[in-house]
Amino acid sequence: MAYDYQAEAWKVMTSGRTQRRGSGCPMKKQGRYFLKDSIRRTVDFSMTDQNKGVEPPPVQKPCPQEAARVDLPEPDPGWQGKIPLADAMARRESRRKYGKEYLSLEELSFLLWATQGLKGAPSGGHAFRTVPSAGCRHAFETYLAVFRVKGLEKGIYRYLPVEHQLTAISRPAGIERLTIGAALNQKFAGSGAATFIWTSIPYRMEWRYGEAAYKVIALDAGHICQNLYLACEAIEAGTCAIAAYDQEKADALVGADGEEEFVIYMAPVGKREPQ
Ligand SMILES: Cc1cc2nc3c(=O)[nH]c(=O)nc-3n(C[C@H](O)[C@H](O)[C@H](O)COP(=O)(O)O)c2cc1C
Repeated sequence: MAYDYQAEAWKVMTSGRTQRRGSGCPMKKQGRYFLKDSIRRTVDFSMTDQNKGVEPPPVQKPCPQEAARVDLPEPDPGWQGKIPLADAMARRESRRKYGKEYLSLEELSFLLWATQGLKGAPSGGHAFRTVPSAGCRHAFETYLAVFRVKGLEKGIYRYLPVEHQLTAISRPAGIERLTIGAALNQKFAGSGAATFIWTSIPYRMEWRYGEAAYKVIALDAGHICQNLYLACEAIEAGTCAIAAYDQEKADALVGADGEEEFVIYMAPVGKREPQ
């Protein structure tokens, strides 16, 4: 019999903390179920919005025409290809100490292109990117907490992959402190040149896969961050994935509503400290 995901989820949500321990813990069972693909058997794919003929959601979150935008330099993969790919893989490590140098806009442009850049114009409700994604759904937005990037004021920005631009979201006072707070007080989150903050917009994936969307969203997030690690190595910068963060503070920092869009992953980036 198929695992009753909804009934178990409800039990977990309504149970007290003490019931979550032990081998029969419903939270564990639910978590392990999430890692499997058994859910596919329980989804009626004929009832997904895609198969019901609903228009696909936009490939990027809409940006008001009047919003302030910053053009990014054209991404030029050749420009940054300073080290062989195998060297980048071999050198890659989680770096939590950063120098005080500014990132250039060209470098930031390269990192954004490497992680979420488009490889052609959107067509038919999807767009191919530098990273793979289940069903080409790419259910993410990229926000940046910018601290030290040449040509950019400190503040929160969102990447617009279709136009390869940034749009300014807010300029909160004490942005470093707020970013550290959003990262559960992991100080390195506010000490680089900029911190990548990825949100998920699950509907982009649910539109095609229904309840089978969630595992592949999590898998997709990994590809993005790995490309950031490798791209950082190519520009003598470093990064470190952050999955331990304060959900509400992180959502508030980027202005995500916490339901249709919420933070899923973070990664500070900074120039490597001189060895
Ligand atoms: C999904 C994920 C979440 C992580 N979250 C954190 C984090 O919140 N804080 C942190 O300091 N490191 C975090 N890391 C970095 C790991 O600790 C690091 O990758 C691991 O220790 C192996 O080291 P290496 O990346 O240098 O090979 C995370 C890594 C991954 C892949």
